Amino acid sequence: MQLLSLGEVVSKISQQEAFHVIGQVADRLGYDCYVIGGYVRDLFLGRPTADIDIMVVGSGIRTAEEFARQTGRTQALSVFANFGTAQVKWHGMEIEFVGARRESYSHDSRKPIVEDGTLEDDLNRRDFTINAMGICLNEEKFGMLVDHFEGLYDLEDGIIRTPLDPDVTFSDDPLRMMRCVRFATQLNFFIDEETFDALISNRERIKIISQERITQELNKILLSKNPSKGFVDLERCGLLELILPEVAALEGKEMRNKQSHKDIFFHSLQVLDNVAHKSDNLWLRWAALLHDVGKPRCKAFSPTAGWTFHNHDFIGEKMVPSIFHRLKLPTDERMKYVKKLVGLHMRPIAIADEVVTDSAVRRLLFDAGNDVDDLMTLCESDITSRNELRKQHFIRNFQIVRQKLKDIEEKDRIRNFQPPVDGEEIMRIFGLKPCREVGLLKARIKDAILDGEIPNDHDAAYALMMETARNLGLSPQ
Ligand code: CTP
Repeated sequence: MQLLSLGEVVSKISQQEAFHVIGQVADRLGYDCYVIGGYVRDLFLGRPTADIDIMVVGSGIRTAEEFARQTGRTQALSVFANFGTAQVKWHGMEIEFVGARRESYSHDSRKPIVEDGTLEDDLNRRDFTINAMGICLNEEKFGMLVDHFEGLYDLEDGIIRTPLDPDVTFSDDPLRMMRCVRFATQLNFFIDEETFDALISNRERIKIISQERITQELNKILLSKNPSKGFVDLERCGLLELILPEVAALEGKEMRNKQSHKDIFFHSLQVLDNVAHKSDNLWLRWAALLHDVGKPRCKAFSPTAGWTFHNHDFIGEKMVPSIFHRLKLPTDERMKYVKKLVGLHMRPIAIADEVVTDSAVRRLLFDAGNDVDDLMTLCESDITSRNELRKQHFIRNFQIVRQKLKDIEEKDRIRNFQPPVDGEEIMRIFGLKPCREVGLLKARIKDAILDGEIPNDHDAAYALMMETARNLGLSPQ
């Protein structure tokens, strides 16, 4: 991994006046003081840096108060006395001050008992070697790197490893297991073997972590450049089975009569990566991960048809709400969007497999509405066939579907389709209350427009309604 040199990192820190002022304040208070953790890691990686963590061997709150006073920012100071921390807002960033601490954990909680500690204690309690580096801000030692666990080597080699025995680090705070996989995915790092073994042996401890925090990490994995890596790691260590059993259940191949189906787990991950290379939309990525989630529930084998997964789109769509509820993901429009894409993901493929008719495209536009482009992205990503001819066939036909979607939308405006004659008008004209006939007339008009039998306008719809009503024995009032 190409890292910035220590000289380059120190020069970046040196350019920020705040770091010099913090160092001077700490000197006056007689504290050793370091910028530490994720900020240092990201500086070496040249990644955009989030918030700044300052650790002093002394009182974090006093240091923050002095810093805020000296820089005229007392308004921007927030003190969290219960946690022994304080924060100062600084040019759109947050500088968090904390005293060096030693932590001890009880078995059933990730909330530690905290005591004042030394620099050593503070580094020992951190999750990974790459997150346990500090750079001194005191004037005399400004820019000195503190790296007791060779985090810089691990950063260079692309390795995630805990500073202490990983069993202790993960058992103390099991959220770190999710963080471990998440960092490995975001940074494309390898999880050290001993650390990985501890993921396996401590996996059940994930149960003491709140669902919100687990899901936050899952979302970060999904938003990585190649999210599949995270799901493979989660599966291999057994965490996936505990947090997303529906996806873990996709793994494996079964053989009957010398016929095997593809491994749906790895297929889904390939689709997920394909989508991730085309779109940053988190919800489209969720749809990709879950698009085949219904398959294990309808898998069947027949000697004539081979392996089939009838209705897996429909079954998958029905599974989305319970997964979203359990994961405490939003159950609003975003969930509806994922449901819709999972439910519709076979439609463009079915269309593209045959002669692409206007009518089928119009119906797709009607059902997918504004999400039709995302649906096409999902379906194009779903072509993971190794059969090059078949792949080219689909790619060509998807191009036709895309072009037809464009042409038909320009002509007929189906995307946000409102029938030109609605139920209210039908009931008024024929003096009806809501009943079966109103439904029949509405459906006839909708189908005729989607099938291209009549244009999408009021006059044509009105004429068709009259004709259909006559056949049903209805007459206007
Ligand atoms: N940390 C830890 N265990 C945790 C969370 C955090 O040891 N469960 C330590 C790590 O040293 C980490 C630092 O606290 O670098 C700051 O935590 P946080 O801001 O949550 O994470 P970052 O490492 O900055 O990374 P990100 O913002 O991507 O989560």
